Amino acid sequence: MSTDRLVGGAADDEERAVEAALRPTSLDEFIGQDRVRDQLGLVLDAARARGKTADHVLLSGGPGLGKTTLAMIIAGEMGAPLRLTSGPAITHAGDLAAILSSLNEGEVLFLDEIHRLARPAEEMLYMAMEDFRVDVVVGKGPGATAIPLELPPFTLVGATTRAGLLPAPLRDRFGFTAHMDLYEPAELELVLRRSAGLLKVDLRPDGASTVARRSRGTPRIANRLLRRVRDFAEVRGTGVVTGPVASAALEIYEVDELGLDRLDRGVLTALVKLFGGGPVGLSTLAVAVGEEPETVEVVAEPFLVRAGLLARTPRGRIATPAAWHHLGLVPPAPAPVAVALARQDVPLPLDAADDGA
Ligand SMILES: Nc1ncnc2c1ncn2[C@@H]1O[C@H](COP(=O)(O)OP(=O)(O)OP(=O)(O)O)[C@@H](O)[C@H]1O
Ligand SMILES: [Mg+2]
Repeated sequence: MSTDRLVGGAADDEERAVEAALRPTSLDEFIGQDRVRDQLGLVLDAARARGKTADHVLLSGGPGLGKTTLAMIIAGEMGAPLRLTSGPAITHAGDLAAILSSLNEGEVLFLDEIHRLARPAEEMLYMAMEDFRVDVVVGKGPGATAIPLELPPFTLVGATTRAGLLPAPLRDRFGFTAHMDLYEPAELELVLRRSAGLLKVDLRPDGASTVARRSRGTPRIANRLLRRVRDFAEVRGTGVVTGPVASAALEIYEVDELGLDRLDRGVLTALVKLFGGGPVGLSTLAVAVGEEPETVEVVAEPFLVRAGLLARTPRGRIATPAAWHHLGLVPPAPAPVAVALARQDVPLPLDAADDGA
């Protein structure tokens, strides 16, 4: 599954521990996502100037792009404690009521994977976000009574990899939504240089650019590849990470020049070889590669689209000519009619047919 992929977006427990050490702790240290950083900076500055808690913030973006990092930074910048929980951890509205009612004034509540929150909890959250109030239901059946409970002002920071799944009433209750995009290679080079400094890796500029270009626009993957490349440099070399050392290491780990791994290549290969380049629907494609549609959609596709290898069309997914070339295949020639139509100097097929008659 995707969790054991070297260039997969998700992190396991051990990795989370390493990541904690590499996390930027202030907005200034946070690299890239300039627009999000500027806007969020304004939101926080304004709240601080008014001496109020900040508006609720929704962070949306793929795995490993820095949502948890930003949530921690928000709390840090507001000088407030951070309470962490997640949608799947809250199975009853009562769980959420317990958390909400124990918040202190100004505290930041980080609700990860907010799109997986249970329905009743979600409805309780609406009222908590808007009116800083929850109704705690005591008793069962006809005798049940709702006791209204005032909450101190707090800031909710929600994170989701799938903003599209959030119901509109929930989305609308956030004062600010940050959409996090994939990072540019130049930004990832900065991430890598910072991490190399913290991990005491001798990372040379050509090494940084080689790793950055293969990190699929994702800081988590960049940091992970850096550690694998460092292992290789220490065991097989002198510990210095140059471009050629990084390339040799990543070849061993089957990460290609574009950063594609087996899942990505599996998706492209299925698309090209089984479906003639598409269009094909997401679920059919997912079955062909033996993955969940969500994994293909959230983990593989965003980068394949960004790399210009795959396109999402209303009729399904299609492989671009670049995808065929990347797999060492020749894209099919466009049908002769299409070529004729594309060329102004050739009579349209209808005319040609008339001539021949
Ligand atoms: N802008 C950034 N600058 C520097 N490092 C970053 C940045 N964004 C993320 N990172 C690094 O990438 C790692 C993963 O980031 P983070 O855990 O915040 O991602 P996430 O979006 O919460 O992922 P998930 O969806 O899996 O929860 C962190 O260890 C952090 O060090
Ligand atoms: Mg996270």
